[in-house]
Amino acid sequence: QSTRQTLVMGNWKLNGSKAMVAKLINALQTAATQHPAVAVAVCPPVLFLGQAQALLTDSPIALGAQDVDIHNEGAFTGENSAVMYTEFGVQYVLVGHSERRTLHGESNAMVAAKFATVQNAGLTPVLCIGETLAQFEANETQAVVERQLQEVISHCGIESFAKAVIAYEPVWAIGTGKTATPEIAQNVHAAIRTFLASLDATVAAKVQILYGGSVKGASAAGLFAMADIDGALVGGAALQADEFAAIISAG
Ligand code: G3P
Repeated sequence: QSTRQTLVMGNWKLNGSKAMVAKLINALQTAATQHPAVAVAVCPPVLFLGQAQALLTDSPIALGAQDVDIHNEGAFTGENSAVMYTEFGVQYVLVGHSERRTLHGESNAMVAAKFATVQNAGLTPVLCIGETLAQFEANETQAVVERQLQEVISHCGIESFAKAVIAYEPVWAIGTGKTATPEIAQNVHAAIRTFLASLDATVAAKVQILYGGSVKGASAAGLFAMADIDGALVGGAALQADEFAAIISAG
């Protein structure tokens, strides 16, 4: 098994209420505390970061955000700032989630700029990459994920991945109930790590590569058993305390 720590991260997407945030976070504390070898993080909607920060005081659970603007302040109505996230104890920031790329037209260049902004604020970017069903069926997966990685490498350098996390999320597995088999996911994760190793072997060995796409308690162990799968970025199952706790327990 690798020296990389397993990281289980919940992306709550546009879900939550003050009552749900309190109930879900309190329910996750036990699972996180009982499995100290597994790093756990939750990414609530920005409106709940203050409440989550208070609930996570003295907790091993880390806090994440789901997106960020490339600017830290100024005339950018409606945006959210990486520097402002630091006031809420945020450690991770998702960049380039497929829902941002498809629904908001975020280009690889925009994602790379967000990646840099997050690192410049001293936070850890979680770079989300992955192919669409059409690209998967056309055997373009490797080319797609390498293009997505290369944009960040060109913008920030390979060494920037020493302080980042990668989340491989095949778009066709997100929210569909279709989880990539451990073997399919492992093949892509290994190819991602090989691509990075061609530029910097140390960075490639160190960077956590999470799998995302319909991960559930029942599928987590099989995924985590794979050499290059270092955890999960979880959507739907992150909203169910028992399901997310089962994924943590599999870590
Ligand atoms: O970011 C994680 C998310 O895209 C995966 O969603 O619901 O397939 O676990 P889900």
